[in-house]
Amino acid sequence: MKVLGITGSLRPGSNTKYYMEQCLAKLQAQGLETQLVSLRDKKINPCLGCYACTEEKRCAQQDDDFAEILALMEQADGIVLGSPVYLSSVVPQMMSLLARATFVAHWNGKFLAGKVGGPITVARRAGHNMAFSQLLLWFFINGITVPGSTYWTVGMAGAGGAHDAGQDEEGLMHVANFADNMAKVMNKLFV
Ligand SMILES: Cc1cc2nc3c(=O)[nH]c(=O)nc-3n(C[C@H](O)[C@H](O)[C@H](O)COP(=O)(O)O)c2cc1C
Repeated sequence: MKVLGITGSLRPGSNTKYYMEQCLAKLQAQGLETQLVSLRDKKINPCLGCYACTEEKRCAQQDDDFAEILALMEQADGIVLGSPVYLSSVVPQMMSLLARATFVAHWNGKFLAGKVGGPITVARRAGHNMAFSQLLLWFFINGITVPGSTYWTVGMAGAGGAHDAGQDEEGLMHVANFADNMAKVMNKLFV
C-alpha cells in the first residue's frame, strides 16, 4: 500500500514539508510505502474551465507537470495534502492541482474514490480552519475516507517565514495520531 504526500509550499525549508515528512515517517513505521511530492519543483497551471476533460478523459493542458502528479495520485491508496495557509486559504498552486484532479478523475470513473487521506495545514497564527475545511471538502467530493485524529491536523509555524515547525510539539502529536489512524484504516480496508 502506498501513500502519496503532496505539499503546496513553494518555499525552501518549508514548514509544511516538515509536517508532511513527520506524517509520512509515521506511516512508514506502520509498514506503508510513502512518496512525497513538493509542488515547489513543479509547474501547475490553473484549471481553464474548458471542460475538455469531460470528452477527452484527460486535462487539455499538457505543458506543465499536472499529468505526472495525477498519475501518482491515481496509483496511490492514500493521499495526504499539506498546504501553508495564505490569507486563510489553501495556496493557489494546490487548489489548481485539486480542481483539475477532481474533474479529470470524475470523468474517468471517479478514480480517486475509495482511497484514504487527510489534510495538514500550517499557519503562523490564524486561518487554519478555513484552509483545513477547503481540503476536507476536496476529500469529501472525491469519495476519499478521512480518518480522524485527536485534534485538527494543523501546525503553528513560520513566523516571518522562519522554519520553526519542530517547535509545535502538540501539532506534531496530532499529525502523528492522524498517521496512526490512517494506517489502521488502510490496513482494514486494503489488506
Ligand atoms: C502571502 C502569505 C499569506 C499568509 N497568510 C497567512 C494567514 O492567513 N494566516 C497565518 O497564520 N499565516 C499566514 N502566512 C504565514 C504562513 O502560513 C506560514 O509562514 C507558514 O509556515 C508557511 O508555510 P511554509 O513554510 O510551508 O511555506 C502567510 C504567508 C504568506 C507568504
